Amino acid sequence: MSQIKLINIVGARPQIIKASAISRAIRKHYSDSISEIIVHTGQHYDKEMSEVFFDELEIHKPHYNLGVGSAHHGRQTSLMITGTEEVLLKEKPDCVLLYGDTNSTLAGALAASKLHFPVIHIEAGLRSFNKTMPEELNRIMSDHSSTLLFAPTNAAFKNLMSEGFRPENSPPYTIDNPKIYLTGDIMYDNTLFFAGLAEKKKADFLDKMSLTRNNYILVTIHRDTNTDDIVRLNEILVTLKTLAEEKDIVLVMPLHPRTLVSLKTRLKDLFEDISHCTHIKIIPPVSFLEMILLEKNCRMIVTDSGGVQKESHFFKKPCLVLRNETEWIELVNNGTSKLVGADTERIRHEFLNFVDAPGGLDYPGFYGNGKTAEFILNEILLMFEKE
Ligand code: UD1
Ligand code: UDP
Repeated sequence: MSQIKLINIVGARPQIIKASAISRAIRKHYSDSISEIIVHTGQHYDKEMSEVFFDELEIHKPHYNLGVGSAHHGRQTSLMITGTEEVLLKEKPDCVLLYGDTNSTLAGALAASKLHFPVIHIEAGLRSFNKTMPEELNRIMSDHSSTLLFAPTNAAFKNLMSEGFRPENSPPYTIDNPKIYLTGDIMYDNTLFFAGLAEKKKADFLDKMSLTRNNYILVTIHRDTNTDDIVRLNEILVTLKTLAEEKDIVLVMPLHPRTLVSLKTRLKDLFEDISHCTHIKIIPPVSFLEMILLEKNCRMIVTDSGGVQKESHFFKKPCLVLRNETEWIELVNNGTSKLVGADTERIRHEFLNFVDAPGGLDYPGFYGNGKTAEFILNEILLMFEKE
């Protein structure tokens, strides 16, 4: 077969970052055999939620931007399906590559599978077993529309098997005869690649922020269960503020726009209070290189983000997860991540344990060898060779 035409669909911040691992590997090893077209749904559109990553991570600017923007789930997803379908009909790719579990992922999966373009799902098999999360529905439906599924962890691979996917399937692979793989995680590839670069390119970032290494805690909050339920959001922030003051440690919070909207419109007094608190630094979303520096040099991470949970492990930092369940269950089993929900007592207990006695934690290599993108691209090429 001549060159394979691959459509890479992104939309939300973490997908742009993930796509950089695949784009980099194509440029480095597969530019003769794979041509890449980037479709941005426009789910995230603020400069610091989108453009900054294309610039900093050297990803080709999107060949198509569907400009969908924010809306309720149904409207947002349907606009993405319509836009993606138009691009697919025009470009007629050999396959469509999707990442993770956002509405952009689901839209790509539905548009492509209904037009019979093979879907390749990176980060397949992750499950929270909580179908009230929009992401859980997106994951299940995307996995069941896929032809190649790359599961980043043992738990994810087992989840696929328990939903009927069969590791023993043999080529030719199709949506009815899909292939599942246990791979590493492309975000580990990215961390290895960008960590050194972050130190070089952003050497003065921590000084500029007046942060002392190992003497601040990184906090990110954006999950709808936390931002849209102001009782939870209030409980989390009041508890963290009290703990920061008690332990005289700074909390650094790059705020997702969703969280900012909730605070500004529904928790004005609390927002005023934490904005003036000397132990809390509220900042706009940061670039990936800046985020790496914040993660690498902090004492501990508190988050409800999927990506940031894993990055806490890459940088060997204990992590409090502001959720009741997680897809990255190996981190909880390892004792380095603690599920604390939005519960004052649980947050307090685990926070103090980690801050007062941070030693004795072990961070085994759960996420591959840093060459997962190459593995995935190689398997994609093999699929087409076997046709
Ligand atoms: C989405 C994903 C979530 C992922 C997260 C990564 C879904 C269902 N959710 O959540 O899985 O963890 O991205 O960050 O796909 N907004 C802006 N500017 C932007 C983008 C968003 O102001 O550039 C605000 C808008 O008020 C918008 C809200 O954030 O309504 C939520 O954005 P949306 O993309 O719908 O969901 P996220 O919470 O970002
Ligand atoms: N991230 C970033 N800047 C920020 C916050 C997060 O670059 O201000 C990166 C983070 O390092 C990780 C990814 O964005 O790689 C995670 O995205 P997010 O938390 O928005 O979504 P999730 O992973 O929960 O889907």
